[in-house]
Amino acid sequence: MNRLNGKTVIITGGAGGIGRAGTELFTAEGARVIIADISEKAGRETAAATGAEFVKCDVSRSEDVRRVIDAADGKLDVLYNNAGVYWNGRDGRITDIEEDVWEKIIAINLRSVFLFCKYGLPLLMKNGGSIVNTASSAGMIGIPDCDAYTATKGAIVQLTKSMAAEYGRYNVRVNCISPAAIMTPMMRQSNPENSTFDEERFLKLRTPLRRYGTPEEIAKVALFLASDEASYLNGAVIAADGGITINGDLSKC
Ligand SMILES: NC(=O)c1ccc[n+]([C@@H]2O[C@H](COP(=O)([O-])OP(=O)(O)OC[C@H]3O[C@@H](n4cnc5c(N)ncnc54)[C@H](O)[C@@H]3O)[C@@H](O)[C@H]2O)c1
Repeated sequence: MNRLNGKTVIITGGAGGIGRAGTELFTAEGARVIIADISEKAGRETAAATGAEFVKCDVSRSEDVRRVIDAADGKLDVLYNNAGVYWNGRDGRITDIEEDVWEKIIAINLRSVFLFCKYGLPLLMKNGGSIVNTASSAGMIGIPDCDAYTATKGAIVQLTKSMAAEYGRYNVRVNCISPAAIMTPMMRQSNPENSTFDEERFLKLRTPLRRYGTPEEIAKVALFLASDEASYLNGAVIAADGGITINGDLSKC
């Protein structure tokens, strides 16, 4: 119950999906949680329900990010970079993506991590801390038709490693969660009912555990990485996907 007692945590995208589960779990574990989310309604509602604080923020905008860091009042122990977008239909293969869509996805998914780390690290380095980044199976293997998304997630995996190598000496650990098929609003939007996605087939043939993951299951991994229980984990990329990414059995697909 008290694994984050006395810790100040920023969770980007902490008002929806996986981030909301993180806000619920981290506050229950005693943390002061600051939600940085673009959705004012969900942000206020989540803050009221959990006791977290909410700062409206577009994570791709430097001035918004600095406002969130300021809200930490000079003390930050955990930075959970969770916010991200998957724009079904607008993202796609390189030859089809509009330039402005590419730029926006890179800004929301990747520039955000750069900005939060750039402005958060001076606080984290004061007393040591933990950065938890969010990649995806799309950052580990090739997935067609979402090239901007995969580019950001692959970059986050590498950024995790280079930051871990650099900031370990300041007792800041940098690790990454790589989820797949977690049932959230993003997951539902990425496979709309009128798409060619065959859910039954996907669950039977692609997912070794034969089910979607839950936001709470990812929040528990984030809690572990954020807490002192993971004190010797640095630069780790944890696939939290029920085995989807390592499943080489495509024979029946
Ligand atoms: N759901 C999955 O299966 C899955 C798989 C792999 C990786 N991920 C990653 O996990 C993370 C969370 O995904 P999710 O499924 O919970 O998504 P979601 O869409 O359900 O929730 C995302 C949250 O981020 C917020 N957000 C979106 N754009 C923002 C912006 N510009 N500024 C601030 N906040 C913004 C939204 O308001 C929302 O609260 C993402 O980085 C995603 O890429 C999810």
